[in-house]
Amino acid sequence: MQKTAELRRYRDKALNTGYLFFYSKALATAARLGVFDYIGTGSKSLKELAAAMGTSEHGLELLLDAMVGMGYLSKKGNNYSNTRCGREVFLKGKDLYIGDILRFHATMWEGWNNLEQSVRTGKPARLHNMFQDDKEETRTFIMAMHNTAMGHAERLASLMDLSGDKTLLDIGGGPATYSIFFCKANPRLRATVLDLPGTLEVTKDVVSRFKMSRRITLQEGDYNKDLPKGFDAAFLSHIIHSEGGEANIGLMKRIYDALNPGGKIIIQDFILKSDKTQPSFASAFALCMLLFTEKGRTYSFEEIKGWLEAAGFKSVKWLRRALPRDISIVTAFRS
Ligand SMILES: C[S@@+](CC[C@H](N)C(=O)[O-])C[C@H]1O[C@@H](n2cnc3c(N)ncnc32)[C@H](O)[C@@H]1O
Repeated sequence: MQKTAELRRYRDKALNTGYLFFYSKALATAARLGVFDYIGTGSKSLKELAAAMGTSEHGLELLLDAMVGMGYLSKKGNNYSNTRCGREVFLKGKDLYIGDILRFHATMWEGWNNLEQSVRTGKPARLHNMFQDDKEETRTFIMAMHNTAMGHAERLASLMDLSGDKTLLDIGGGPATYSIFFCKANPRLRATVLDLPGTLEVTKDVVSRFKMSRRITLQEGDYNKDLPKGFDAAFLSHIIHSEGGEANIGLMKRIYDALNPGGKIIIQDFILKSDKTQPSFASAFALCMLLFTEKGRTYSFEEIKGWLEAAGFKSVKWLRRALPRDISIVTAFRS
């Protein structure tokens, strides 16, 4: 085959994909070492930082310069500072903070190291425990979910019409970030977040930080067993991808029974087109579920629609609204 422009682009793209982990691992390592918080809002020399962080000057210099190269830090002479945007996303306590998800990437990285083995065996790389066995890991996982949700929860709340609803069941609601923004956008709405006990310890802190404890009830439960009943709306965000098809069929039926007549279900996930290859983040995310769950994967809209209709739901719609990482929404109604 001739060395056409198309072939060169294709080859370069594949080579660059091979190298992407350099960037990902460097950023996660900077976050784990606390580089951004050590620098804070001022400017620090390499010497000061290495002494404060207990690292070698040589190793840290290379990491800091790589961060500058990637645009995540600034450098003047021998001094480093956070960028204007970096101060909003890398410093603890900021609304748009992403430090927890970057640290969670380190946990995911351990799983991804076993991808070859999981592809060979079809089995996960570690026990499917939803990161509940270690309190610190639970907190990092749930705060990581909060970090990602904060990117578009307010926008999602503005896209969904819950104005006539009084009660929302947020199934596996994790940090409750979406419930918080649904409640903020709809003053008459109250939410119940159903989740595992370890998760709810973290949820409590997030809900109270947003001063929503009076409108959001936390309820321990297992969505694979029972759901409370009598809700106008149900929200299922990033749940179906952790479960197999059979479990999801059962879950849709329980959600149908949990809703009042005319009630709506809103599903948010990485939803695939019918041949299950695109969007590419959604098909790559399926590998993540191979590594961390027993039967999870990402699903096509047609599969989700089939489960919903089998449970009795009507007017199933797929809404694609340019959300981050090609997240999309399916809505349907109970008769
Ligand atoms: C990927 S997180 C999604 C959190 C939240 N819905 C969001 O989108 O930000 C999955 C959530 O489901 C919860 N979960 C997992 N298995 C569960 C079960 N069997 N019953 C109730 N909650 C569960 C986890 O604790 C976690 O909060």
